[in-house]
Amino acid sequence: MRCLLFLLLWGLPQIRRTSEVPQRNFPFRCLQISSFLNRSWARTDGLAWLGELQPYVWKNDSDTIRFLKPWSQGTFSDQQWEELQHLFRVYRSSVTRDIQEFAKMLHTAYPLEVQVSAGCEVHPGNTSESFLYVAFQGRDILSFQGTSWVPAPDTPQWVARVIEVLNDDQGTSEMVQSLLNDTCPQFVRGLLETGKSELDRQEQSRASAGLIAGAVLVSLLIAGGLLTCWFKKRSSYQDIL
Ligand SMILES: *[C@@H]1O[C@H](CO)[C@@H](O)[C@H](O)[C@H]1NC(C)=O
Ligand SMILES: *[C@@H]1O[C@H](CO)[C@@H](O)[C@H](O)[C@H]1NC(C)=O
Ligand SMILES: *[C@@H]1O[C@H](CO)[C@@H](O)[C@H](O)[C@H]1NC(C)=O
Ligand SMILES: *[C@@H]1O[C@H](CO)[C@@H](O)[C@H](O)[C@H]1NC(C)=O
Repeated sequence: MRCLLFLLLWGLPQIRRTSEVPQRNFPFRCLQISSFLNRSWARTDGLAWLGELQPYVWKNDSDTIRFLKPWSQGTFSDQQWEELQHLFRVYRSSVTRDIQEFAKMLHTAYPLEVQVSAGCEVHPGNTSESFLYVAFQGRDILSFQGTSWVPAPDTPQWVARVIEVLNDDQGTSEMVQSLLNDTCPQFVRGLLETGKSELDRQEQSRASAGLIAGAVLVSLLIAGGLLTCWFKKRSSYQDIL
């Protein structure tokens, strides 16, 4: 009996704990994948996620970023969105050219793949955190920190040359700072508003899946505990007999 009481006292709070819905943040992450088969063949594709939802895709063949959700434009006006898209279009053509030039300068062998992962997360209390990482052939090589480009730990020697060139480009650095510091958090605040009902629905289904899984787990533990108690009791009776 003491065993059963103990299990109930222990088990009930566990069920409650697994059913609590934590206040979650929704990081906004953009991924750019640029592939270069040879000196003349290149393509760049983009994807973006807000939490686990994917509101955008941008294929190399398209001039425009495609909205996959009705709320993808956030609270930006048509004009603000058009300006942002224009900026990314210019970026896409210049990044392709720049990578080809770096490859020439460094005599890099093809094929090449460059991935850029960038975005931000808005926290409650209206603070935010932004990031931008660059990987080459699947390996992190550099990132943007504060006001400049810095190498990832243990990168090859040639990365230092790339960083030197990048850090000489004051215009690009200022553009990146403005995108990371201001545009991204402002845009994501808007998305959290326009996408709220879908984000909430997703959280709810995740929470109920968690609750069911938690209840099953706790039931199994209680059943297991009861069996252990029962075996213990039986063996202690046997000791007496
Ligand atoms: C580059 O690769 C593409 C696709 O495989 C091919 O069609 C093209 O001929 C190649 N160009 C050169 C200069 O090798
Ligand atoms: C990717 O887009 C660029 C610019 O529109 C184009 O020049 C290039 O041929 C495209 N690459 C492929 C592989 O389709
Ligand atoms: C959050 O901060 C940004 C700038 O840092 C400001 O424009 C915005 O109005 C703030 N939002 C709220 C809800 O306080
Ligand atoms: C952007 O934020 C970084 C800190 O993360 C700061 O060092 C830098 O001065 C800011 N730049 C601008 C243009 O606001």
